[in-house]
Amino acid sequence: MHIRPARISDKDAIEQLYLAAFDQSEAAAVAELALEFLGENSQPACLNLVALVNDNNNDNNHNSEAGEPGGPSIVGHISLSPCFEPGSNKLVAYILAPLAVAPGEQKQGLGSALVKQALVQIKQHCDYILVYGDPAYYGRFGFNTELGQSFIPPYPLQFAEGWQALALKPHASSPEQARKFHCLGPLSHAALW
Ligand SMILES: CC(C)(COP(=O)(O)OP(=O)(O)OC[C@H]1O[C@@H](n2cnc3c(N)ncnc32)[C@H](O)[C@@H]1OP(=O)(O)O)[C@@H](O)C(=O)NCCC(=O)NCCS
Repeated sequence: MHIRPARISDKDAIEQLYLAAFDQSEAAAVAELALEFLGENSQPACLNLVALVNDNNNDNNHNSEAGEPGGPSIVGHISLSPCFEPGSNKLVAYILAPLAVAPGEQKQGLGSALVKQALVQIKQHCDYILVYGDPAYYGRFGFNTELGQSFIPPYPLQFAEGWQALALKPHASSPEQARKFHCLGPLSHAALW
């Protein structure tokens, strides 16, 4: 298994991955979210990573694209995107969404490898990561609902217990006051929250 930055040419494979990994009720919306982040040109930039199997572990190899016969297969994907203070371009945190591993490849550590790799890469850019997901999964990386209370989501949450945050640096304990923030366009839809 190899993890590398996602490329625009991965988009069909990423879409198929989300359509297979998520329930039909939400798969199309989450696939669209992943593709929108792939094309985002924010400052600071989004982080989009893919996990591949049957790859020769070479970032510069463009000879066989993911999904081509005999080429590598994309079996996992993760996006992290920046969140800003309302009405400003001051970075508050990155938010982790979406994340998926192909159904046939789950429970082998791929999801954890993607999350850990993303956290390492984003650590130099921000103090906090936010996530809206199952605490039973994200808790294993240190995300917690208590710190999540320090960040006020831009929309009402359908599952408030899924709102979590992780401090990436020792000095980054809870902010003194709960902080409001806004997300990039792809996450700025109430139905996703
Ligand atoms: C969640 C997901 C990304 C995990 O990927 P993965 O490669 O299977 O994860 P890992 O192998 O690193 O970890 C597997 C462990 O996480 C657990 N796990 C997976 N999904 C979980 C969930 N929603 N809640 C709690 N635990 C979960 C597994 O039971 C397994 O536990 P174990 O280590 O005790 O056996 C993958 O199951 C997936 O794509 N699910 C469908 C899409 C989804 O729910 N995405 C996350 C949205 S918030």
